[in-house]
Amino acid sequence: MTVHFIGAGPGAPDLLTLRGRDLIAACPVCLYAGSLVPPAVLSHCPEGARIVNTAPMDLDEIMGEIAAAHAAGLDVARLHSGDLSVWSAMGEQLRRLEAMGVPYTVTPGVPSFAAGAAALGCELTLPGVAQSVVLTRTPGRASSMPARETLAAFAATGATLAIHLSIQNLARVTADLIPHYGEDCPVAVVWRASWPDQRIVRATLASVEAATPREIERTALIFVGPSLGAPEFDESRLYAADYDRRYRPQSAESRWADWSEGDD
Ligand SMILES: C[S@@+](CC[C@H](N)C(=O)[O-])C[C@H]1O[C@@H](n2cnc3c(N)ncnc32)[C@H](O)[C@@H]1O
Repeated sequence: MTVHFIGAGPGAPDLLTLRGRDLIAACPVCLYAGSLVPPAVLSHCPEGARIVNTAPMDLDEIMGEIAAAHAAGLDVARLHSGDLSVWSAMGEQLRRLEAMGVPYTVTPGVPSFAAGAAALGCELTLPGVAQSVVLTRTPGRASSMPARETLAAFAATGATLAIHLSIQNLARVTADLIPHYGEDCPVAVVWRASWPDQRIVRATLASVEAATPREIERTALIFVGPSLGAPEFDESRLYAADYDRRYRPQSAESRWADWSEGDD
């Protein structure tokens, strides 16, 4: 018996990996985080599967479900939204499974920041503008932030910020960021990226609060940084005609360039 943690993607049911789909189809038990996992993903469960929404459960109750499946020798598909590496609460579940001696696997999913950037049609790392993306959040009712992980500290780098779990703190976010990026810095709020009712607000740090309708709450990302609006940026060296590299040597004497710099 194995617990398969599966990233269920940002919302659109076809933004699920093939591996995730096949694992869901093979597991007689499915535990899903119902607040964000798209219901259509559950259509891959086999007939007769036990399908449990864990949104109203506490950790002990969730582990109780897994222990019961373990005792019965039934594999479990454990679904969380987006990818599992960020804000999934997978860490605490893995720790319990290790203590219980229950095997597990982890299958990645499409994270919401990638779906948001796709909705914007935007590369977050434009050459000469920004080469880093910070996935972060502001403090919430259930989660404080480590003291050094402030928006101001990240903003000091000028990186592109993808701020999660923070739409309710928009006023605070803009106040913290304006001193670093300036009032005119482009901002995009993407609500329910990849869902049928997806909405996008494009504004600046000075205008985004007024431009964001009140209905946009929860399940939104705030992207901030010059990459979001940069009309002027350098072309990458990757495709430059004179760039000597492993896959496009410029002469017989050429030595391979650092192939890790691009994705092809
Ligand atoms: C508990 S976190 C889950 C993050 C998830 N594990 C991921 O990979 O993106 C929930 C937050 O992620 C963001 N989020 C998740 N899905 C989203 C979507 N479809 N559109 C916009 N933001 C989303 C929102 O900031 C939301 O408050």
